[in-house]
Amino acid sequence: MTTSPSEPTTTSRTPGNVLVIGACGQLGLELTAALRQRYAPEAVVAADVRPPKDPAALAGGPFELLDVLDQPRLEALVAQYQPVQIYHLAALLSATAEKDPMFAWKLNMDGLLNVLNLAVQYRVPQVYWPSSIAVFGPDTPREHTPQTTIMNPNTVYGISKLAGEQWCEWYHRHYGLDVRSLRYPGLIGYKSLPGGGTTDYAVDIYHKAVAGEDFECFLKADTYLPMMYMPDALKATLDLMHAPADSIKVRTSYNLGAMSFSPAEITTAIQQETPGFQVSYAPDQRQAIADSWPASIDDTAARQDWGWAPEFDLEKMTRDMLVHLREPVVA
Ligand code: SER
Repeated sequence: MTTSPSEPTTTSRTPGNVLVIGACGQLGLELTAALRQRYAPEAVVAADVRPPKDPAALAGGPFELLDVLDQPRLEALVAQYQPVQIYHLAALLSATAEKDPMFAWKLNMDGLLNVLNLAVQYRVPQVYWPSSIAVFGPDTPREHTPQTTIMNPNTVYGISKLAGEQWCEWYHRHYGLDVRSLRYPGLIGYKSLPGGGTTDYAVDIYHKAVAGEDFECFLKADTYLPMMYMPDALKATLDLMHAPADSIKVRTSYNLGAMSFSPAEITTAIQQETPGFQVSYAPDQRQAIADSWPASIDDTAARQDWGWAPEFDLEKMTRDMLVHLREPVVA
């Protein structure tokens, strides 16, 4: 059950611990690794509701089982580790959330409120929570979607992310909590697979190309969506979290852009490296979700406030993805 923060709990802090909730997800695995590179690996505590599928993936530091809806367990971990930063990534993504809306709402909202309340109570200096392009909806201007505009999301995931953004702003204003957030586009990486999202096709397509198989795409060929390569997403997250607090002017969540492409365009980019690769199209219920989201993002605020600049476009990402996915698996 979610409860409001009680009186701040005074503890003697062991400086340096970082808690990553949802560490086994697509972003969590890579962000945990990046944080462990940046800090002492044993100071970065990975937590998830299940252990990682590949035990080696998070072997470099502590791992704790945690259901973020289990408030006493979360409180015990916060009290034990005294984190200076919490990265709260656990959520149901867009397509899965439409299938189980009540659980998605519970996980996405109560999970966030549990983290925010404990962060206030235990005086955690910084919290990171990801938002998404899903906060926008069919009434939103689709091209170069501005930071501040009509939102009206029409997916459960989008509604939960928009409400979460407003909660983050409220906790910042009301309690002075330094909670920061980015509206990620679709994230693409070679180290881990997404699960249950509408942008997942742009990861799956590379795996099929490398396996020498054809790909059936669940979106139409001309569906443009904002996307980002994982190294850029990691850089954005760490840059945001290390920017001086007074440069963070947006306390809901920052628009974040890198590239925008359609299934037809990513197919062409892959075919340049892998001639003969074939894609067919069988749009499903995820098409309506994609159609309600922006095609491209205006991220001027992130560029101005904390110096955001992406490094990867579609061609550069495609070359890098294919090189890495073709690397032999080291046992
Ligand atoms: N990648 C997410 C999804 O497709 C959007 O944030 O659900």
